[in-house]
Amino acid sequence: IKKVTTETFKKMKASGEKISMLTAYDFTMAKLADEGGLDAVLVGDSAANVMAGHETTLPITLEQMIYHAQSVSRGLQRAMLVVDLPFGTYQSDPIQAYHSAVKVMKETGAAAIKIEGGLEIKESIKAILNAGIPIMGHLGLTPQSINKLGSFKLRAKENVEAEKLISDAKLLEELGCFSVVLEKIPAQLGEKITQELSIPTIGIGAGNQTDGQILVIHDLLGLNKDFKPKFARKYLHLHEQIVEAVSLYVKDVKDQEFPNKEESF
Ligand code: KIV
Ligand code: NA
Repeated sequence: IKKVTTETFKKMKASGEKISMLTAYDFTMAKLADEGGLDAVLVGDSAANVMAGHETTLPITLEQMIYHAQSVSRGLQRAMLVVDLPFGTYQSDPIQAYHSAVKVMKETGAAAIKIEGGLEIKESIKAILNAGIPIMGHLGLTPQSINKLGSFKLRAKENVEAEKLISDAKLLEELGCFSVVLEKIPAQLGEKITQELSIPTIGIGAGNQTDGQILVIHDLLGLNKDFKPKFARKYLHLHEQIVEAVSLYVKDVKDQEFPNKEESF
């Protein structure tokens, strides 16, 4: 099977074939996503939320991201592997950014890394790209800056922020990023940026005119009953099914219905 690459992304934008992405954090989910025909998997720092139970993505470390990425990597045959650099490992120091990205590439088999921000992280972007490491950008709602942004609400509603977003997107393209995630922005802005860029845009809460879509796999599977962002479509409702399965098991154990004769030696 031929792996999806940054070249494939380029071709897909050119041909108008939409790019499908999900996050994954472990071997089993990665294998399932790959089997489903997904184009690329992101080992997102959202692992801090859905795997570790933190309120924000800030606490996760580079070593923890690498552990998740190594696990995911073993599950992929066709899908491209992209790995988030976590908070505090690239923003203000290009040398540190270079070392963080190199470490991920060396230890995980990733094809690219993803980092959040535009002009503010220009030098870090250049340092990573100069090392021959492909970068997926991330603009709009950038969760690593949540303490600066103040909330997880829609971004770039007003002109000033929208203009900055457009110029950041163009900067990422000029610097040589191979794609950019647009998170939680008006659909019209997602469409405009997608038209103005030659690199693929991957949207999450950015309308259906972007070149691709990404969701957190836990949201797609409905693993968290109480988390219902407007942009996340639940394709399954596993929360209810898993709780039901566990409660049936509990009952069977209590009633000595499990294991039965066939399940015993
Ligand atoms: O960490 C993450 O899950 C992400 C995507 C939602 C874009 O960055
Ligand atoms: Na992320």
